Amino acid sequence: MKSDKITIAEIVSLKKAGEKITMLTAYDIGFAAVLDRADIDIILVGDSLGMVVLGYDSTVPVTMEEMLHHAKAVGRAVNRAVVVGDMPFLSYQTSTYEAIANAGRFLKEARCDAVKVEGGKEICDTVEAMVRAGIPVMGHIGLTPQTASQLGGYKVQGKDAEPARKLLKAAKALEKAGAFSIVLECIPDTLAQAITESISIPTIGIGAGIYCDGQVLVTHDLVGLFEKFVPRFVKQYAKLAPQMQKAVTAFRDEVKSGAFPDKDHSYTMQGDIGGLLDKKNKKIK
Ligand code: KIV
Repeated sequence: MKSDKITIAEIVSLKKAGEKITMLTAYDIGFAAVLDRADIDIILVGDSLGMVVLGYDSTVPVTMEEMLHHAKAVGRAVNRAVVVGDMPFLSYQTSTYEAIANAGRFLKEARCDAVKVEGGKEICDTVEAMVRAGIPVMGHIGLTPQTASQLGGYKVQGKDAEPARKLLKAAKALEKAGAFSIVLECIPDTLAQAITESISIPTIGIGAGIYCDGQVLVTHDLVGLFEKFVPRFVKQYAKLAPQMQKAVTAFRDEVKSGAFPDKDHSYTMQGDIGGLLDKKNKKIK
């Protein structure tokens, strides 16, 4: 491990220092290396993997084995950032034992530094048990994609007073259970501000406005690689999919026309092939 590796304590102290925290997703070595070189503080191996890489309609079908397969690749690439493994649906809800065992696999097998779980008060006992077992835990409340159908779909949460109060209480409960930070997804900015001001651990927002202690996006959204839909809260800093399309089409055209590979992209022999092959019948001499 390199000495400039960020610790979870340092992530928490960024809130006190008033420095914004950056978090992005990665699922393979190429993306993870780019994010780490860019000094992104936290790299999340998100279960968004299921949608942006594996082609599922939601995050629900994602398995532990799929998550670990990708988390291991990210773990191999990262030197500086805190790596968080996202626990997939039903890998932590069935029992405390399973939750600890599965969370432990992210740390032991994939070199993750922490895990993330979705849910409020109902998972606080599990969070407490995982933290007691030595596993740093990030919470995730608001729009929780694994249970989006129970929430009425992919909708902004906490718009009215009662659900907003419930989310405030959930954040407090997660802090008490020992979570080191909480993702706030798709909630009004003033509710995110109230949560952020009422707890001592950092909030990391996605569609939760400017007042959070940090921000997270799915990297495929940020660079314009996931074209199926673009939520309103996503800012596309690049549009890579059309650029890739152009490059791939150029390759196809050049292969078909014989323009690729040219001499610059081919190797030459020291001697003459004529010494090895009979020119007339093309047989090896
Ligand atoms: O899976 C994921 O990418 C996430 C982020 C949207 C926070 O949970």
